[in-house]
Amino acid sequence: MARTVIVGAGGVGSVVAHKCAMNIEDFGDVLLASRTVSKCEAIAREVLERTGVTIRTQALDADDVKATAGLLMIEGAELLINVALPYQDLHLMDACLEAGVHYLDTANYEPKDEAKFEYHWQWAYQERFRQAGLMALLGCGFDPGVTSIFTAHAKKHRFDRIDTLDIIDCNAGDHGQAFATNFNPEINIREVTAKGRFWQDGAWVETDPLSVRREFDFPAGIGEKAIYLMYHEELESLTTHFPEIQRARFWMTFSDNYLKHLEVLGNVGMTRIDAVEFNGQQIVPLQFLKALLPDPGSLGPLTEGRTCIGNVITGEKDGKPVTCYLYNLCDHADCYAEVGSQAVSYTTGVPAMIGAKLILNGTWREAGVRNVEQMDPDPFMAELNVHGLPWTESFPETSGLDD
Ligand SMILES: NC(=O)c1ccc[n+]([C@@H]2O[C@H](COP(=O)([O-])OP(=O)(O)OC[C@H]3O[C@@H](n4cnc5c(N)ncnc54)[C@H](OP(=O)(O)O)[C@@H]3O)[C@@H](O)[C@H]2O)c1
Repeated sequence: MARTVIVGAGGVGSVVAHKCAMNIEDFGDVLLASRTVSKCEAIAREVLERTGVTIRTQALDADDVKATAGLLMIEGAELLINVALPYQDLHLMDACLEAGVHYLDTANYEPKDEAKFEYHWQWAYQERFRQAGLMALLGCGFDPGVTSIFTAHAKKHRFDRIDTLDIIDCNAGDHGQAFATNFNPEINIREVTAKGRFWQDGAWVETDPLSVRREFDFPAGIGEKAIYLMYHEELESLTTHFPEIQRARFWMTFSDNYLKHLEVLGNVGMTRIDAVEFNGQQIVPLQFLKALLPDPGSLGPLTEGRTCIGNVITGEKDGKPVTCYLYNLCDHADCYAEVGSQAVSYTTGVPAMIGAKLILNGTWREAGVRNVEQMDPDPFMAELNVHGLPWTESFPETSGLDD
């Protein structure tokens, strides 16, 4: 009997499995299920070595709703943690409804044939989850996830009104490879090559991919880096749940080397997501490229440096203007030493574990579909400090974004 079922044995799944094992009293028996069972078994072996806790494993095609619901019912599961790919979200939500199990994920649903990050498919499940008395907690990684909870914390404690929100994701790590992505290359490249979009005065403004650039001076010795405006899914939920926000943007750092490779790959058609015929076979160039690139999981022992992900928020408190910068610093090598993964998987997997813990112990239990920023941020913010993602809050004079 597994109280907690983790689906997806990738980089993030490995961190979630480790962190659940490290807090096994909160999770009960844990089952890790994924398409390739050998990957589950390899993670389970590492978890046993590092923590002394045994987690069980199982082959599962998460797109098979009946099989997933059957597994959840046989196990008598209470919660499913979805850290497979965004394509599986709706199938896993269907399976949870069928089996009467709570649901948590870290990325919103995407149709396979179109890079489209929108919540409406998952928000449409609201009534069904509510009527079933089940919770579906969406976007409980770092971004979305912690950045969304940072926003809720700022609104609860630091602002009467939020005017602008800038989420800034910096990976100042170096893996020494010519070109590699830090998480699933297909998902990562689809995201980065999509058009940019930000929220301004009640409407979306679209920008060409990676065409808006600024310099931002990161704390703790990381220093100045180029950041690029992108669209990211939490902008949709945050501007929905905090409608006072006048402008919301998302930025990410990229090295010149990464961008040079991406440009060439794009120019020659290797980032296409439609099928092309090759030697009588249909292949999707981006999926083929994924097969050639280093497995993000293999970057763990090679990566040095830190990530710095956070929110710059401006607004008003007690009639006075306030600027607040909330961020987390995470060291790649420290993550590797603790759970055998680099910081990008770690910063996603730890919040997923915390959200799962809060659902299981009833602290964050509401029937219906919820984005994390709709919940009370305080217990989550406290858990971040305990489980490896401590946060810092500062009140600079200006946003540092030159606008
Ligand atoms: N919110 C955030 O901050 C954040 C950040 C990074 C990533 N993410 C999200 O986290 C999730 C996991 O990312 P990752 O980097 O761990 O990806 P990954 O390394 O590619 O792992 C995905 C895992 O899902 C499994 N899978 C794929 N399709 C499946 C299916 N139909 N049935 C069962 N298992 C299936 C894969 O199986 P195989 O091993 O057989 O391929 C793989 O083990 C993604 O949704 C990603 O978008 C969120």
